[in-house]
Amino acid sequence: MPRNNLAFAVDFPSFQDAEPLLQRLAPAVGVAKIGLELFTRDGPHAVRLASSLGFEVFLDLKLHDIPETVERAVANACALGVRYLTLHTAGGRAMLERAALRCEKENTGLRLLAVTVLTSLDRSDLASLGIDVEPAQQVLRLATLAHGAGIRGFVCSAREVAQVRQALGPHPILVTPGIRPSGTSAEDQKRVATPASAIADGANVLVVGRPIRDAADPVAAAQAIITEIDRTLARRAAGMA
Ligand code: C5P
Repeated sequence: MPRNNLAFAVDFPSFQDAEPLLQRLAPAVGVAKIGLELFTRDGPHAVRLASSLGFEVFLDLKLHDIPETVERAVANACALGVRYLTLHTAGGRAMLERAALRCEKENTGLRLLAVTVLTSLDRSDLASLGIDVEPAQQVLRLATLAHGAGIRGFVCSAREVAQVRQALGPHPILVTPGIRPSGTSAEDQKRVATPASAIADGANVLVVGRPIRDAADPVAAAQAIITEIDRTLARRAAGMA
């Protein structure tokens, strides 16, 4: 279902502010991404409301803590019925393994997504953390570590998606933000890609916020992205993209 290849970033101060648009988008868009802003205000209630509107929920909490704490948070996310949950690869192998094992044991259909290097960090930020390599190299190192620990989903920028796909093969789910349909503004995103190029490079799920939220007709904007995803997936399957 191509609608499940599009995650709408629900970047609103509260669920109440987001609800009218979510109701309109629900028939077209399959996944709603709830991040820290909304979750620190409305919490699990926002997740339940988005689920009740028919969305798969992508809980973008970027967990990073000791293995025991992360494992228990994964169990709670499973009980909430979310489809995707993010965690930081930098939490290390033991944390990743415990999260992956718990996710498998709970068996609710949750897919864990590992975040590698935040796109807000550049080479000099990494160096100041004592990591003296190019961000792309660190992304691959961390993605390979997480894959070895049993994680089968990754968040990566459009710049890295092709190399992560090449390194990890066809099976992991690759989720890519920073998507801008041609003709729309990049805003503060520096490394943008069109839906077609991200899918052609191997992404499975595209995260899109403002190009839908701020469009004159958000439903039409979402539908146009889904059509572009659908066409490119068909070309990819035929070996043409
Ligand atoms: O509005 P826009 O399409 O730029 O929204 C992108 C969403 O993806 C936001 O919720 C943002 O926090 C998230 N994100 C991102 N870049 C990353 C990781 C997440 O833009 N590298």
